[in-house]
Order: sequence, then C-alpha cells, then structure tokens
Amino acid sequence: MNVKDVNVKIIADSRGEDTLEAEFTADDFSVKATVPSGKSKGVHEAYVLEPKKAIEKFGQIKKEILSPDYQTQEDFDNFLISLDGSENKKNLGGNLILALSLAFARAKAKSEGKELYQYIIDLQPTTYNRQQKLTKPIFNVINGGAHAKNKLEIQEFQVIPQVSDFAIALSMGKEFYRKLQKFLEGKFGAQNISLGDEAGFSAPFGSNEEAISMLSEVIEKNNYPFKIGLDCAATSFYKDGFYEIGGKKYSADELLNYYFELIDRYGIISIEDPFYEEDFKSFAALTSKLHEVLVITDDLTATNPERLQKAINEKSGNAILIKLNQIGTLTETLNVVKMAYQNNWQAVVSHRSGETLDDFIADLAYAVNAWGLKSGAPAKPERLVKYERLLAIYNKEILSAAIN
Ligand code: PGA
Ligand code: ZN
Repeated sequence: MNVKDVNVKIIADSRGEDTLEAEFTADDFSVKATVPSGKSKGVHEAYVLEPKKAIEKFGQIKKEILSPDYQTQEDFDNFLISLDGSENKKNLGGNLILALSLAFARAKAKSEGKELYQYIIDLQPTTYNRQQKLTKPIFNVINGGAHAKNKLEIQEFQVIPQVSDFAIALSMGKEFYRKLQKFLEGKFGAQNISLGDEAGFSAPFGSNEEAISMLSEVIEKNNYPFKIGLDCAATSFYKDGFYEIGGKKYSADELLNYYFELIDRYGIISIEDPFYEEDFKSFAALTSKLHEVLVITDDLTATNPERLQKAINEKSGNAILIKLNQIGTLTETLNVVKMAYQNNWQAVVSHRSGETLDDFIADLAYAVNAWGLKSGAPAKPERLVKYERLLAIYNKEILSAAIN
C-alpha cells in the first residue's frame, strides 16, 4: 500500500460533542474512520485527549506517519504505541491513536481488495471459531443511569432476540421498539417519554424492577422470542462501600441478592458491570452463583489485557465487553479478544453512548464471531448503521455460501 496522505479533523458526535475523524489517502482511494466517546467511562480506559490538542499532536507526527516503514496492522499500531510511549496513551491520546489505527485498517483492507471483516479475520486466522452461532443484536431499549434523566440506577435495559437469523432479529427489534413506545405512552403519557443517549426510552419509572417488568410484559403480550439483559454500570451508583438504589444503601452482598432475585424472576440472560470497577471479588461471587447467564465485564476490564488477566484469574465473569477506544488500537483489541477466547470467555462488541456514523464495530463483531453486538436501540442513525452493516455482512456471506 502506497500511503499518499493522512489527515485528522474534528467532527461532532451524536451528543454534539467534538470527536476525531482520520482520513488515509493511499493508492487511488481514500478512507475514513472516526472514534466514539463514552459517558460512563472506566478509570482504566485509554486517555482521551481533548480533540483540539489531538489535532496539534497529529501535526507533530504526520511526517512520521507518512514515512512508511510499517507493513502490517501490528507494525503500524506498535509504531503509534511507541511514539506515544506512555502507559495509557496520554501523550498522543487514545482517541487520536485509535482514529489512525482504524483508518489504517480500512486503507489496508481496501488495498488488499478485502471486506473489512475479512481483513480482520485474516489478522488472526486461527483465533475465531467460525462455526459459532449468530452474533446477537443487544437492543438497549430503556435508558437509565448516566444516559438518561430519570430515577433508574441501572443504565441499560436490553432485549436480546433468541433467533438464528439476523434479519429477523433486527426487524423484530424495530417492531418491538415501536410497541414499547406505545405501551410506555399509555402508562406515563406521551409528553413524559423521551430518549436517552443510546436512543432507548426514558420515562418516570418508579424503580429498576418496574422498567424490567414492563419490558417483560410487552415481550410476553406479543410473544417475542426475546430475553432481557442489563448493563448496571454500577460504578455510577457506588459510593463509600455501598450501592445506592431507590434511596436505600446496599452492601455488595445485598446487591448480589437483589440481582439474583431479578435474574431469577425475569429470566435475565446477561448482566454487565453488576459491581463497581474494582470489585473483582463480588463479580466472582455472582458469576459462581449463576448458570448460563452471561456476566459481562466492561469498566472492570476496560478491554485491557492486564485487567482481563486478573478477571480471568479471579473468575470475575464469563464475557468481556470489547470497546476499541478503551484500549486504543485494533491490534491490542484483537489480542484481548484472543485472550478471552483462550480462557473460554465470550466477547460482546460494543459502541459508546457518544457515537458517530462509523460502522467499524459491525465488521469487528462479525470477524471475531462475538456473542453479541451492543449498539443501543434500533432507532437513531448512529445506532442503526452498525446493525444494518452486520445484516449486510450476513446477507453477503449467506449469498456467497449458497453460490459456492
Ligand atoms: P458509555 O456507556 O459509552 O457511556 O461508557 C456504555 C456502556 O457502559 O456499556
Ligand atoms: Zn457498560
């Protein structure tokens, strides 16, 4: 690949905040990649440099990026990592590094005449089990916590279709979303319904359980083959050794029982960040009590190999949430997925609450054969493009399997 030019500029994300877009011009084409941003960010995530400062930094390293003595994704990512030289990418910014890493991946895929997902598969051809079932869309249809202005402590109330066809899963998700809207308008009045950051509904729910039971009611009434999932993002309601829910203080043990009852009562199949981001022990206690329920680590592991290793050693979960911008390069992200799989953990690929129209994570989810893809509600364009891209990939692959 003959890299001719590379540029970085500022664009607005779905919250109207500044984020970065990188553009690579190579051979006879140019490609772009953008980075999202989180609101309930973990303290162990790669450093986010203020976008204007990141543009300045980029000006200082542009020349070196254009001197192409790197051939592979790994070479390029390692080059950025060594140029930064810090533990948490605070010198260049994880956001600048990631925008460049992803734009490089797109450029390289294109120069090799490959779909992005195929390029990613080929980076680690032996890691992913291609026989595994469909990647499930995880629709976050009710928003709480840091993502909405309501009383819900739990951040995400999700529905997860249990079907083996992605097209059916997505169309059911869209239909369910409209039915849920009608249902909530009937309960609370249309004027009291709004949307949270990930396009899920917000309403004056009295409690977390009320939100879950309403989801459950709409599922049952309409016979949807859906299960419920939760992202508690518990760091946001943890303070001084206790978790505060509905004005009441819970110890970690009491919170565990609270979850256990909800999981049992509503047949919940996945629970993310049930405890705050340092509590490996409570994660382990919950995991050991559950059977066939995914315990997903997000802020706990922050897509970071050392954090994941600790979580694996302590049995603090059985699935890791994968967010490219928590670690900052594609290569490091794939290494974390590999570590998870080698230890019989699942991987769930995720967007951030502040998103762009970039659909890179759909290709990533397909390539690594993720258990699920988390991209919010099936509603706003920045959420939908990821689900639609994954659908397009499945359609293409089904077609080519039929031809061969
Ligand atoms: P964030 O939330 O993007 O605001 O960090 C998403 C999540 O916690 O999974
Ligand atoms: Zn989360």
